[in-house]
Amino acid sequence: MESFLIKGGVPLHGEVTISGAKNAALPIMAATLLTSEPCVIRRVPNLSDVRFMGRILTWLGAKVAVEAGTVRVQAKKIKGQGDYDLVRKMRGSICIMGPLLGRLKQARVSLPGGCTIGPRPINLHLKGFAALGAKITIESGYVQAAAKRLVGTAMFLGGRAGSTVLGTANVMMAATLAEGVTVIESAACEPEVVDLAKFLNAMGAKISGAGSPTITVTGVKELHGAEHEVIPDRIEAATYAIAAAGTNGEVTLKGARADHLHAVIDKLHEAGVAVERKGANLLVRRNGRLKSSDVTTLPYSGFPTDVQAQMMALMTLAPGISIITERIFESRFMHVSELARLGADIEIEGPSAIVKGGRPLSGAPVMASDLRASAALVVAGLAAKGTTRVNRVYHIDRGYENIDGKLRHLGARIRRVEES
Ligand code: EPU
Repeated sequence: MESFLIKGGVPLHGEVTISGAKNAALPIMAATLLTSEPCVIRRVPNLSDVRFMGRILTWLGAKVAVEAGTVRVQAKKIKGQGDYDLVRKMRGSICIMGPLLGRLKQARVSLPGGCTIGPRPINLHLKGFAALGAKITIESGYVQAAAKRLVGTAMFLGGRAGSTVLGTANVMMAATLAEGVTVIESAACEPEVVDLAKFLNAMGAKISGAGSPTITVTGVKELHGAEHEVIPDRIEAATYAIAAAGTNGEVTLKGARADHLHAVIDKLHEAGVAVERKGANLLVRRNGRLKSSDVTTLPYSGFPTDVQAQMMALMTLAPGISIITERIFESRFMHVSELARLGADIEIEGPSAIVKGGRPLSGAPVMASDLRASAALVVAGLAAKGTTRVNRVYHIDRGYENIDGKLRHLGARIRRVEES
């Protein structure tokens, strides 16, 4: 296993190119299962999660070729069922279920368990499939959806924490090949859902309303091959913006979309960080001292849960008290005890973390527990005095393309080493 060794305290300066969005690329790759024709997807980030999705598609019978950020998939013939134990390994692979159900009218995958960020139910995905006419059975850890025909209908997909991103994606994909009209109410509005709908429409689907809470899908008989370029990763962009702010540097985020980052930019502004549009890029720099700020995570267009940990790392550096409330994944606070090892003063009170910021951080060995928690530890390590060792960085490689290389390019002193 590999670790990062970070010598902190160096302000980040320069330009960083934002990669394609992992959470858009994964369902878009899955959507290629809906057609037997070839599909070309560009700006796909080189990440372990994406490679894993490629392996799943191959396993299902598709031909997959990857070259320099372009993924070509042709799923001429695919398997309808099998004892594939894939979803447990990567939660994002649940989004193969919608395309399989749409094309073959049956799908069977292992039930995803919980993970370090909390329980990850799929009841809303299944509710949507059932509304389209699929019979759902759960047996020996597997979930199966099967239907003679799928028929469009109106459905409400809101849950306890609001909308569901992959649930919306899954049902939208299945509905493209259903008979008649499907209306998804309380649909997720995330840009990744919009990007998926754009790709599906390029394949011949008839989807309107993506990006709003009501998505309408008019079923078609079949879909054809298409080309698509994945949107830039708003979570990666936010992470580099926060790293720049934490080190008191000045960084240009090349290709980052301000229109996908309203809530993050607003909070950074409140915290004393300027984010300005410069053509197709965003320039991030501090506006004087950092200020404490309260943050609550919400479905889009609220503050993203995937930036909560990184923002908490930044708030440990801001004098005063910041209250960070997690409303999407109740146990997404694994980074708190590791940030404490760097000297942060944080207390958890139910769904909130109370950060008493402003004490200087000092380097220490810390353990990455999930993708975004690891990113927070890197952000903190870059700002801390001395050397931070972040162990188990395979978590970060799941979602950040070449993060150590990109940070070095910005002047950071970060090295990848074998874990001792
Ligand atoms: N939920 C249900 N029932 C369901 C599905 C979800 O109750 O059937 C609940 C969840 O427990 C959670 C909330 O709804 O409380 C939102 O979960 P959602 O379904 O939106 O999450 P997801 O689609 O499984 C995606 C991203 C996550 C990101 C969330 C929220 C991918 C591959 N994953 O997950 O990304 O945190 O949306 O924005 O798109 C990450 O990249 O680090 C990551 C975890």
